[in-house]
Amino acid sequence: MTNQRIIEILRHGQPDQTVTIQGWVRTKRDLKNFAFLEVNDGSSLANLQVILEATLPDYETSLKQINNGSSVAISGVLVPSEGKNQRIELKAQNLTIYGDADPTTYPLQKKRHSFEFLRSISHLRSRTNTFGAVMRVRNACATAIHQFFQEKGFLWVHTPIITASDCEGAGELFTVTNFNLDKIPKNKENKTDYTQDFFGKKAYLTVSGQLQAEVMAMAFENVYTFGPTFRAENSNTSRHLAEFWMVEPEIAFCDLEGDQNLAEEFLKYIFKYVLEKCPEDMEFFDQRIDNSVLETADNIINNEFARITYTEAIKLLEKTDQKFEFPVEWGVDLQSEHERYLAEKLFKKPVIVTNYPKEIKAFYMRLDEGEKTVSAMDILAPKIGEIIGGSQREERLDILERRIQELNLNVEDIWWYLDLRKFGTVPHAGFGLGFERVVQFMTGMANIRDVIPFPRTPLNADF
Ligand code: 4AD
Ligand code: MG
Repeated sequence: MTNQRIIEILRHGQPDQTVTIQGWVRTKRDLKNFAFLEVNDGSSLANLQVILEATLPDYETSLKQINNGSSVAISGVLVPSEGKNQRIELKAQNLTIYGDADPTTYPLQKKRHSFEFLRSISHLRSRTNTFGAVMRVRNACATAIHQFFQEKGFLWVHTPIITASDCEGAGELFTVTNFNLDKIPKNKENKTDYTQDFFGKKAYLTVSGQLQAEVMAMAFENVYTFGPTFRAENSNTSRHLAEFWMVEPEIAFCDLEGDQNLAEEFLKYIFKYVLEKCPEDMEFFDQRIDNSVLETADNIINNEFARITYTEAIKLLEKTDQKFEFPVEWGVDLQSEHERYLAEKLFKKPVIVTNYPKEIKAFYMRLDEGEKTVSAMDILAPKIGEIIGGSQREERLDILERRIQELNLNVEDIWWYLDLRKFGTVPHAGFGLGFERVVQFMTGMANIRDVIPFPRTPLNADF
């Protein structure tokens, strides 16, 4: 007999049906002539209640071995439940204990643990209600993303993780080397000689797959990449990771407006999909984590996002009585307090801000008329701030070359990127969605470290 997933049994199981489950015991209640177990196999938030009767062979010894965290296989018959918490439960006929879990040392006890504590046991925290729900929602988000783009005929392309170019130019790169760090080769000027390194030049972990996605869009029109990206940003905030996943579509024959439209449709699609696939988990977040989760989801799906230019945003920020830590004037980069004010307080929904000053944005963004701003767009979400960053790309060779010179960038590393503007250039645009930020936004989890299984942050690469 093959085993069944608990979610299927809870949804469709019928009385008298014989089933086998496998999983981990969440709780045990030892009564006089029988015991109740709550068993979870990760397929759903709800556990399956199992009744062990004293007539089971080796009942007494088995029961001693079973504790919170023990792993078991149980076969038996489904019966209607007398309790009001569940429709159906399992009457055990056969019990296998794979592994016990010593109650004096097993860290997950039947009480509320803080998220800080759970981070210190990341290898076990997925066995809790909250992290189970987070990981299922995360999975549904990823599936929604692929489904959205596949339905639209976008090609999923795989961009490299090791690269020689700094796409964002923000200097947040992790270097990739196989030098013996105690014996680094030097050149005549006594500087590190990268020609002797593995790639013969300086190489990094990618901060974004965009430049290579642009290459692919110039052949396939509509593409997306979805992979890990890395930033050596030394910021210990609730929204930054050193390793995070990014979704980056790139669309040929598209301008900034088309880019915004796609991004808005995309976010709405993800929310709708997750609500449909994970209703219990989303209900759980609403009840236990943040009671605006379902309202927010509804708001995203059913309302149009606000759209303003950076210049309008600055005016709105200058007009308000709200005190900010960072002063506002035209030309400054928006800080997260500004972003949150706009999305959370003023518009009470996501806001797309466009046309930022060129000085605070990356070299590849298309220069607007007047040459003060670029065709950038950021989507700001309540509680999170920036969730998407994108732009129309500079497709005009002469202007791109000028920008590269102005910013003192190294043309040798991106000659191939310039080639795209020499051979069949077209207007194009794209954006990057921070995958963990959308999971955070959706679940209401306060800290980004709690929406990825193994967070990487400054001074932390455990597990
Ligand atoms: O705004 P960013 O830097 O844009 C890019 O990298 C572009 N190349 C994207 C593109 O146009 N194809 O990053 C995109 C998104 C941000 O809006 C944010 O959601 C997320 O990535 N992000 C982070 N998420 C977690 N931790 C960090 N340290 C992040 N940095 C950016
Ligand atoms: Mg950005």
